[in-house]
Amino acid sequence: SLLHDELAGDEVLVVSNREPYIHTKTAKGIEVRRPASGLVTAVEPVMRACSGTWIAHGAGTADRETVDENDRVQVPPKNPAYTLRRVWLSKEEEQGYYYGFANEGLWPLCHIAHVRPVFRSSDWEEYVKVNQRFADAVVAEANTEDPVVLVQDYHFALLPRMVREKLPKATIIMFWHIPWPNPESFGICPWREEILEGLLGNTLLGFHTPFHCKNFLETVDRYLETRIEHEASTISYGGDLTQVEPYPISIAWPEEPYPETIEESRESVRKELGLPRDHLMAIGVDRLDYTKGILERLQAVERMLELHPSMAGRFTMVQIAAPSRTSLEEYQNLEARVRQLAQRINSRFGASGIDPIMLKIEHYESDQVNRYYRAADICVVTSLHDGMNLVAKEFIASREDERGVLILSQFTGAARELHEALIINPYHVEQGADALYRALTMPEMEQRERMRSMRALVRDFNVYRWAGRMLLDAARLRRRERVTAKIH
Ligand code: F6P
Repeated sequence: SLLHDELAGDEVLVVSNREPYIHTKTAKGIEVRRPASGLVTAVEPVMRACSGTWIAHGAGTADRETVDENDRVQVPPKNPAYTLRRVWLSKEEEQGYYYGFANEGLWPLCHIAHVRPVFRSSDWEEYVKVNQRFADAVVAEANTEDPVVLVQDYHFALLPRMVREKLPKATIIMFWHIPWPNPESFGICPWREEILEGLLGNTLLGFHTPFHCKNFLETVDRYLETRIEHEASTISYGGDLTQVEPYPISIAWPEEPYPETIEESRESVRKELGLPRDHLMAIGVDRLDYTKGILERLQAVERMLELHPSMAGRFTMVQIAAPSRTSLEEYQNLEARVRQLAQRINSRFGASGIDPIMLKIEHYESDQVNRYYRAADICVVTSLHDGMNLVAKEFIASREDERGVLILSQFTGAARELHEALIINPYHVEQGADALYRALTMPEMEQRERMRSMRALVRDFNVYRWAGRMLLDAARLRRRERVTAKIH
């Protein structure tokens, strides 16, 4: 209802690269999947609540068969609540804009996970072109001259200004789902000024943490001639004013009962994996991405087993890793290294046929992931750098028994909120090993206390609040603009 109050009849358009529903052809016919994406996890429930139109790249092999003549389809498929408008990209566009500039350039640039960004002029050209194509789609979908446009993520740094040029009265809100680096790091990007100018087409620009906002203001200050009001957190550039604010993203608190009780999940998951009933289990759920610190996590397990050999045969780390951006070499290399390391650890510590590492390099739908969260004793998040990390929050939300321990990297946005997790530096293998052992031996009372307070936080600061706060701030700016327009 907070969302409805804030929007009060305004037209809402969302733009993201990743679509919330992917239709794929399979042997069994057309299947609908929800992609592994923090962005989709967060924005989808918001869209269900406020309807409107979501514009995204149609990436599924059966997507074209499900849209009408205007490339639109009503979703969710079983219970339509809003419109999904698909944009089709050619192979070259996808290669240059998505794989190239977004994921070989901006992704490593912003995450600083010691993977060198690659900047090719040909990728940049596609990035500019595709941003323009999505901006045109926004303008075409808009039925009013002042819609609320919610732009998602680093795929669309140029789009806000492009939309602003055509729809000067639009309220353009952008959320940057990944970290923003310090000015020196960002400064190596050959098109840094263009990117910053694009972003300053926004009415409101959101990051996960105050730290990312500060980095952004400093970057703008370093590379553009602007007026920055630090106290108000605004930037004036040309005739435009952009407000920069932190909005820590979150999840929808589960409302439906789970199909299995926690006890049932503990049992059925262990059975499925061929593990004994009382086996200790940690879970990791990530896209197979070098920012997630999966190698470091496995090293921590290895070290823990070296220090505590009695845990061999009693403990398994189950790592679900959804294949991601698989045509890029860095990702292929990572997969090979993860597989190798898991094998090495298993051959060292596999006791009585039970592997300490179980790798599941495949996509799991969210109800399956939930079963694993609920079956686990520990959830491990070891990102080397992460905007927020919603796996941490999903794990907490799934544990109504108030049991289970969260191990959380200090380099996630989530670590700024979830102080009762066991916070570690994932680069420090010894620390990871100690945290694992501490989690495995943590008294029930302590687990409960920690879990209870983290659950209260995630329940209160849910994703509706995230969107609500952004829309509330945007509404305030919208009113201010209308008033000043009247004065002048
Ligand atoms: O939140 C960061 C993000 O890159 C999203 O933009 C994206 O949807 C998600 O992670 C998953 O990545 P991809 O869409 O490239 O599979």
